[in-house]
Amino acid sequence: MKPENSIKKNIKIRSQLILVLLGVTLVPLLIFGLLNIQANKDNLEDYERLQQTNLAARLKVEIDNFMERNFGLAQALSFNITAQIEASSGNRTVYELSTEKLLHDFLQRSPNFHFASVQASNAAKRITLSEGKFNFDIENELQKYYDDGKVKISSGGTYMSPVVRSQSLGKEVVLYTTPIFSKGSPVGLLSTVINLDYINRLIMETAGDNYEICVIDSLGKLISQANMEYVRNEEDLKNNDLLTDYLRPDSPAERPRFSINQVYDVRIAGKSEEYLGTFTPVEDLEWALVVQLNSQIAFKPVQMMINRSIIMLIFAAMIAILTGLFFANTISKPLSMLTKATNVIAEGKFDQPIGIHSRNEIGILADRFNSMSGEIQKFIVNLKDAARKNKDLFISSIRMISAAVDEKDPYTRGHSEKVREFSVEIGRIMGLSPEQIEKIAISAILHDVGKIGIQDSVLNKAGTLTPDEFEIMKQHPEKGAYIISPINELSDIIPGILYHHEKWDGTGYPKGLKSEAIPLTARIIAVADTFDAMTSDRPYQKSMEVDYVFKLLFDWAGKRYDADVVASLFQAYEAGRIKLSKTRSSVQS
Ligand SMILES: [Fe+2]
Repeated sequence: MKPENSIKKNIKIRSQLILVLLGVTLVPLLIFGLLNIQANKDNLEDYERLQQTNLAARLKVEIDNFMERNFGLAQALSFNITAQIEASSGNRTVYELSTEKLLHDFLQRSPNFHFASVQASNAAKRITLSEGKFNFDIENELQKYYDDGKVKISSGGTYMSPVVRSQSLGKEVVLYTTPIFSKGSPVGLLSTVINLDYINRLIMETAGDNYEICVIDSLGKLISQANMEYVRNEEDLKNNDLLTDYLRPDSPAERPRFSINQVYDVRIAGKSEEYLGTFTPVEDLEWALVVQLNSQIAFKPVQMMINRSIIMLIFAAMIAILTGLFFANTISKPLSMLTKATNVIAEGKFDQPIGIHSRNEIGILADRFNSMSGEIQKFIVNLKDAARKNKDLFISSIRMISAAVDEKDPYTRGHSEKVREFSVEIGRIMGLSPEQIEKIAISAILHDVGKIGIQDSVLNKAGTLTPDEFEIMKQHPEKGAYIISPINELSDIIPGILYHHEKWDGTGYPKGLKSEAIPLTARIIAVADTFDAMTSDRPYQKSMEVDYVFKLLFDWAGKRYDADVVASLFQAYEAGRIKLSKTRSSVQS
């Protein structure tokens, strides 16, 4: 395995471990957090709905009470006037009895009233007083409602006008009209103007900083409001989803009679914001109350919980990642060492133990690995030793055969060994591989092994061979190949033996091969064989001078012998790597 793959493996283990830890840590936290947050949100929403309902109910009661109390005061005044009429036995008119003082005392006692007016049914003129001083602007502002009230109470009952913004008072007011009776019949009417300051204060104080509260009339017109700065006109309220049913103008009978809680969106400055709101009708007055709270404020604790949960998740994730990294290193580092150790063993080095000292499974694996590596090393050493001995035996056997051949012909004693030496040097000069040179060496030492099969009378003949004898002698390469052929392991060296008498120009034997058709081993042995023969004493010739021998060899290069091989032999000789077999005699011409 390459180191890069090992690194990828480590990264993979680390990533997987971190992912598992993140999953185990974060998923339960996330599920618990989401459930908890949702439960809290639900609880908060329930609480908020209850809170708003209670708030709206309390405000409704307060507003109802306020208005009822003031209506009661106005009615008490009208009863007072009625009582006085009754006491005068009907001789005095409403007009006479309802003095400015009476009205003035009433306004003094009733701070929520700004204005009071008495008018006899049969008179166009009326007595009118305003709080503190005479103010007829307000009378003009409310004229329309005076008239409406007059018509409404002609059949009995009382009348309350819509809420009016009085420009002269700078306040929201309502006109309340109640009849004055005499002997069971209405003889006049009392009109009072009630300011709604109390309601405004009540709304403001109840709203505090967070709640948005408003009181609206049946048309959606704002009567009082706190914190609802975004409301600029009636349309703003009509677009409020909470008031959709209440403001349905075509079916007032279907208006909701009870409180409604709802979550809805309000568009403020082009942006949608979620609100939780409560609607409560103030039925007697045909008003309604809206209490609402921005969801961001209502669910602020939930948002805080979400933020805390996110921080907790991030913290847990960091712990998981750090833990993952730590344990991944604990696992992957020894694994990486094991991987490197296998690479070292793959390179044939068994003597480098793994330095993992751990009591866990990886430590045990490393110990086993080291034991195994040691056993393999011993085995390899034994194997190499056996192979070396085998090879030595083999080489000795070959030398023994070669010596046996040489022994048959005392004149060529040591020839095979010299041919081996020369061939090896030629091969080295020619840059052949060690394996090729080893084959050449064995081939060279056995090149004349076939001479075992040549009868001694021919082999040892002192004189010149007859043509028939020479034909017998020429059989030795084939006989040599035949002798070696049963040994499969030596099949590669047969060409060197079989063709060492072939000539470059094709005039050799046994096949008459030419040039490069002759195996290189055979071409090398041929030159080495001739060189040793010419530089050694033989029965038929004295050894020749080396320079002369090389002159002849160079003459024959490209004819009998491979010119490259001849040149390589010369180069080896020049380099001092060729040692001749014995002292040479004088130059033979
Ligand atoms: Fe030979």
